Amino acid sequence: LELDRIYEPIREDLEKVEQGLQKISHVDFAFLSQLIGHSLKGSAKRIRPALTLLSGKFYDYNLNLLLPMAMAVEIMHTATLVHDDAIDKSMVRRGKPTINKLWGEDKAVLLGDYLFAEAGAFTASTKNLRVINLFAETLRTISNGELNQAYNAFNLKQNREQYYQRIAKKTSSLFCMVTESGSALSQAPEESIHILIEYGYNFGIAFQVVDDVLDFIGSEEELGKPIGSDLAQGTVTLPIMLLLENYPEDESLRTLFESRSESTDKKHIIEMVRNSPAIIKECYQVAADFCGRACTNLKRLPENPARQSLIELADFTIRRKK
Ligand code: IPE
Ligand code: IPE
Ligand code: MG
Ligand code: MG
Repeated sequence: LELDRIYEPIREDLEKVEQGLQKISHVDFAFLSQLIGHSLKGSAKRIRPALTLLSGKFYDYNLNLLLPMAMAVEIMHTATLVHDDAIDKSMVRRGKPTINKLWGEDKAVLLGDYLFAEAGAFTASTKNLRVINLFAETLRTISNGELNQAYNAFNLKQNREQYYQRIAKKTSSLFCMVTESGSALSQAPEESIHILIEYGYNFGIAFQVVDDVLDFIGSEEELGKPIGSDLAQGTVTLPIMLLLENYPEDESLRTLFESRSESTDKKHIIEMVRNSPAIIKECYQVAADFCGRACTNLKRLPENPARQSLIELADFTIRRKK
C-alpha cells in the first residue's frame, strides 16, 4: 500500500510492465510457461522496474524504450533469485515454494539461464548500445559478487570494506543499471545520469544492508522468504560482523563458522541479534546514511513527482518489513 502511493507517478505504466511480464510466459512449451509464470508471480515489490520508469521521468519519457527496459530489469532480477534459491537450497520465495523445491535444482538453473537471455533480448530491443553494454557489464559484476560470497562462505576474517564491496557488486550494480538505463533512454544529460547512478549505488547498499538485518529480525510471513538463510550459508553480513565485535567472548558463532555445521544451534545466534538493540540500531544507521547519500544530489534534478518518489522510496527502504 505504501509502495502503491510511492509508485503513483508511474502507476499506469507499471501496470503495463505487469501485463508485459505475464505475456513472456506465453511460449510454445507448457512446462516452461508454468516455470516462467511461477517465478515472476507472488509478493514481488517491483522496485527495479519502478525505478527504471521513475528515472525516465526527468527528460524525454519514451515508453517504447522504457517499458522493455523495465521488463528487462525485473526479469534479470528474477533470474538471479531463481539461481540464488537453487544455490541456497531455499524453499520459499515471494511467498510461494521455490522453483528448486517444486521442480528441482536442475530446472532452476536452466530457467535462470532462460530468464537472463529473455532479459538480454528485451534490453537489446531498445537498440541502445549503452544499455546493451550495461546489461552485460552488470551481469558480469553480479556474478563476480556472488562468486566472492560463495568463496568467502564461513570465513570470519572479513572486514566491512570487503562486505561493502561485495554488496555493491551483487546488489547495487543492478540498481545502477536500473537508474542509468532509465535516464539514458530518456535523453537525460550526462550530469543527471550520474546523479541517478549515484542514487542507485547508495540505494542498493542500503537495500542490501536492510535485507541482511531482516534476515535476522524479519518475519518469514511478511518477507515471503525464510529468515536465518545468511547464517545457514555462512554469508558474513553486517549483523554478523557486529555480533563478533560485540560478543567476542561468545563461542557459538565461531563454532558454527569453524565447523560449518548444519546442526549448530542457529536459533541462539538469531536470538542474540534479535535481542541486541545496539546491533539493530547500528545496521539501520548505516542504511540510513547510505539513503541520505543516495538523495543528496537529487535536488539538482528537475523538480517533479518522480523526484519525490525517489526520496520516499529511499525512506521506505529503511522502514520496510518486506
Ligand atoms: C531481494 O530483492 C534480493 C535482494 C537484492 C536483497 P527484493 O527484496 O527486491 O525481492 P522481490 O523482487 O520484492 O521479491
Ligand atoms: C541478494 O542477496 C541476491 C542477489 C543479488 C542475487 P540475498 O541472497 O540476501 O537475497 P535473498 O535474501 O535470498 O532475497
Ligand atoms: Mg539468498
Ligand atoms: Mg538476503
